[in-house]
Amino acid sequence: MSEHVRFQLKTVDDLKAELDRLGLSLPISDDFSVFGQTVDVSGRTLPNRFLVQPMEGVDSTDDGSPRDLTYRRYRRFAEGGAGLLWFEAVAVVNEGRSNPRQLYLHEGNLDDYKKLADETHDAGQKACGHSPMLIVQLTHSGRFSKPTGAPKPVIAQHNPELDSAVGIDENYAPVTDDELDRLQDDFVKTAKLLYQAGFDGVDMKAVHGYLIAELLGCHTREGKYGGSFENRTRFVREVIAKMRQELPESFIITSRFTAHEPSPWPYGWGINEANEFCLDEPLRVVKELGLPTLNFSIGYPRFQPYMNRPHDNPLVGAPKPPEHPLEGVVRFQNVAKAFHDMSGGSSPVMTAALSWLRHLMPYVAAGMIKEGWTDMIGIGRLGFAYPGLVRDLLEKGSMDPSKCCTTCSMCSQIMKDVVGFNGCVVRDREIYVPQYKAGRDAAKAKGLA
Ligand SMILES: Cc1cc2nc3c(=O)[nH]c(=O)nc-3n(C[C@H](O)[C@H](O)[C@H](O)COP(=O)(O)O)c2cc1C
Ligand code: SF4
Repeated sequence: MSEHVRFQLKTVDDLKAELDRLGLSLPISDDFSVFGQTVDVSGRTLPNRFLVQPMEGVDSTDDGSPRDLTYRRYRRFAEGGAGLLWFEAVAVVNEGRSNPRQLYLHEGNLDDYKKLADETHDAGQKACGHSPMLIVQLTHSGRFSKPTGAPKPVIAQHNPELDSAVGIDENYAPVTDDELDRLQDDFVKTAKLLYQAGFDGVDMKAVHGYLIAELLGCHTREGKYGGSFENRTRFVREVIAKMRQELPESFIITSRFTAHEPSPWPYGWGINEANEFCLDEPLRVVKELGLPTLNFSIGYPRFQPYMNRPHDNPLVGAPKPPEHPLEGVVRFQNVAKAFHDMSGGSSPVMTAALSWLRHLMPYVAAGMIKEGWTDMIGIGRLGFAYPGLVRDLLEKGSMDPSKCCTTCSMCSQIMKDVVGFNGCVVRDREIYVPQYKAGRDAAKAKGLA
């Protein structure tokens, strides 16, 4: 690992020199014409290579409905021109919400979600002449559930490292097989609501340490959801099979899938008995599931944020990242390449974790497309900061450095403080500086960092 540094790169030559200095490599190209190429996603042709990756706005109403800022966020993404918008985590049950303002879809607020889908489709059509594909991520927050603001963990197995981080003792009961069976039906029921609301597809979230991702590493769990590869992947396989049975073929059924849950053996996923990063099981399950999209992530954002969102500034009170941000960028892109090599182009690979590169992102993105590392470029924090970046790249062939994300982690801080609504504090100041301050003031009043 090389020492963490803040972003100082001005040109693509600076980027190449820094990669050389670190002994790292990434494909790089200045042929941005690849961005306007069409992509086939599940039989539908998207007009360009970009998607907005899911990012929680922490701004639902008490009953889980979108509010004005939620509509604004997706309207702006749609106007920004990406071919696909991947909506943030939406809970399938109230007790699975990560905070009291995480979106939660149920029969009682279906009309609000219809409005969200309609307004987002319309905004894209009006601004860019195409209506983006809309896939929504469904979730259960598992051990990080806080439906009323106080922790109410639902654990799949005991995991000494993670248990101590969230104050769970050895007597705390893991979720039962019967409860998981019922939760399968909650995922299927909520996917049907998404279909009725007019969205184009559903993602069963299986990343970032949440319940469905945790099940994948349940080597120590007894019963039908633990132990063997078949049992640990049972939940995803059965839910996807049920969704395929009960929803029309035109509706996309997929999962943002974890390539790595970095707990030491026998608790993690994408890790072997020697505790080395190992993609055998992630690649195997994704292939067996035949997912129509290969969107993925790695690591627990709460504990190894440098793996999934390389950044300059850590959260308040958190240690400096243990590695150079480019190491995180390269690790993530190598996983994209492994998925691409495995799929042989049968399903589009969708990468992420490129925001640290700011205005140099397009050079790596174009290189990765040209050299067959990925099919689509996922935009996370850059999208919060600079929602119009896809149109700028397609229409002007460049990005404005003054609009880029600075990877300051203030949006993640808002999420952690769970007081303000979430968005870009640096580039959308009028709305989000007060939200950030409210969260910080509340944390300080409680004596927290
Ligand atoms: C504030 C915030 C909220 C996020 N929420 C989600 C989420 O709901 N679901 C998810 O799969 N990933 C979530 N992510 C991860 C992003 O989708 C993305 O993978 C990550 O930010 C790395 O991409 P980037 O470098 O372009 O930001 C979130 C990231 C941030 C910063
Ligand atoms: S607050 Fe804005 S600039 Fe800072 S990390 Fe989030 S999106 Fe980037």
